[in-house]
Amino acid sequence: MIEGRPAQSLSFNPRTRPVVPPIHQSVTYFLDDQAYKDVQEGGLDEIWYGRFRNPTVDVAASEVRRLEAAEAAFMTSSGMGAIATTLLTLLSAGDRIVAARQVYGDTRDLLVRDLPAWGIDVVQVDATNLDEWRDAVASGPTTVVYVETLANPQLDLADLPGIARIARDAGARLVVDNTFATPYCVQPLTLGADVVVHSATKFLNGHSDVIAGVVAGPAELVREVQRRVITLGTCLDPHAAYLVWRGLQTFELRLAQACSTARALAEALAGRADVVRVRHPSLPGYERAEVASRVLRRDGDVVRAGGMVTFTVAGGDERALRVMRGLRIGCEATSLGGVETLVSTPFNSSHFSLTREERIAARIDDGMVRVSCGIEPADALLADFLRALDESS
Ligand SMILES: Cc1ncc(COP(=O)(O)O)c(C=O)c1O
Repeated sequence: MIEGRPAQSLSFNPRTRPVVPPIHQSVTYFLDDQAYKDVQEGGLDEIWYGRFRNPTVDVAASEVRRLEAAEAAFMTSSGMGAIATTLLTLLSAGDRIVAARQVYGDTRDLLVRDLPAWGIDVVQVDATNLDEWRDAVASGPTTVVYVETLANPQLDLADLPGIARIARDAGARLVVDNTFATPYCVQPLTLGADVVVHSATKFLNGHSDVIAGVVAGPAELVREVQRRVITLGTCLDPHAAYLVWRGLQTFELRLAQACSTARALAEALAGRADVVRVRHPSLPGYERAEVASRVLRRDGDVVRAGGMVTFTVAGGDERALRVMRGLRIGCEATSLGGVETLVSTPFNSSHFSLTREERIAARIDDGMVRVSCGIEPADALLADFLRALDESS
């Protein structure tokens, strides 16, 4: 025999407020006349079906909204979910997007393979060259301009105010992937971007245990993206949203540690004769120092230059592999932004699909190692790298 559902007994005492947000796993909610009315009048604002909105997912989004100084934010199933849903919201067949050439591999595939197949014209430019941006945007009506704050793995910092001015003058929307830099170091919306997208899988979550994404920007635009999340089905699961929320509780602490370790590691590596080149925006010789002075946030005299470091060893890719495999604290693994230091060699991981000539043209040198600094004690991590370098020669 089936008895009536114990709906009332499952309700929370309205005076009980949990410090940690509960995971709302329910896909659906009891309806009554008032609820139907609310849904019909409120539309996207109402919570009545899990693919449309979920309270736990909303809680995670509100943390990112605050960090990115955005009016609104909406979580997605992955970083690619955030990027693809945003671009499919802003672009239609016949439109044109001008995008940086230096973008994450799957973003590149979306740009060069998928968007053209859907009738969208894609023009790619060198992210660091404002003249190329200006010429490309001027050469035809442009709907969207797309760039990553810090390019992977060269760590070239985009001149966001300059690119935003070019986009604005052309009536185009600037979409910025802020995954590498994070809002701890750069808040693109305060520098002229219209929309920020993230792989929340990385520094926002910070624990390498969830795939998630987020879109942040003006409420009206984020609402349009939310509408496409519903039809494309790129919504985030509440358990995953809870993990993002929990990771975000230590975001500033983790980023402060990762940035300071990255700076120390970059300085230590730059002092070695067997390291040909070190890239980190805090170094005095950083190629885009002028842009860094305008774009990166500061704590007094300390520039927030990010937790990623790229360095090139003498001896090419074979030696880069030996260095990476000699590490005892750093993990040989893809991805970035975790509490553990993650190390990879672009030639056989993020950029394996490029020929050597294409990699060199993209300034991915033979012998390059990419490091995502975690929160381990910096002294121990530096010693790990220096020992691995000594033992690899
Ligand atoms: C810069 C950047 N954007 C987007 C993505 C895609 O994120 P996800 O794996 O969460 O879909 C990645 C993944 O590595 C990335 O590095």
